[in-house]
Amino acid sequence: MAVLRTLGMIKPDAVAAGSTGAILAMIEAAGLRVVALRMTRLARAEAEAFYAVHSQRGFYGELCEFMSSGPIVAMVLEGPDAIVAWRTLMGPTDSTKAGPDTVRGRYGTSVSLNAVHGSDAPETAAIEIPFFFPVRELS
Ligand code: RTP
Ligand code: MG
Repeated sequence: MAVLRTLGMIKPDAVAAGSTGAILAMIEAAGLRVVALRMTRLARAEAEAFYAVHSQRGFYGELCEFMSSGPIVAMVLEGPDAIVAWRTLMGPTDSTKAGPDTVRGRYGTSVSLNAVHGSDAPETAAIEIPFFFPVRELS
């Protein structure tokens, strides 16, 4: 398996709930290496840009409102097949359908408020990583 990098985010619901440390512990226990990490807050326009692929979806406005509602933690994760590994650990989009060993199963509450984000393909990771991190911060 190729060693890959992916962009992960702890969303405003999970940061506000005080679940950041527990989620990072799950990530490290799963063998993913945290390459870069930053707490920040997305302006509404930044959330709109990040999720532009969903701009025609009915939930876009609600999603951008949520994602700009409070601090988030952005991170770059590295490991064997990291994109799939992180999405498997995240669980499905709908937290109510996520298993107890997944981040969304433990810390998400609904299909909208689902605790974490992960890039869905190498092409997406290649856009999302530099959205948050300059090259010099990626060691
Ligand atoms: P993400 O991009 O955040 O990692 O989530 P995902 O791939 O599992 O799901 P995606 O289809 O890309 O949707 C992006 C985010 O939009 C919100 N959502 N709300 N109300 C709804 O039906 C609905 N569907 C999606 C979620 O926060 C989802 O993670
Ligand atoms: Mg997605």
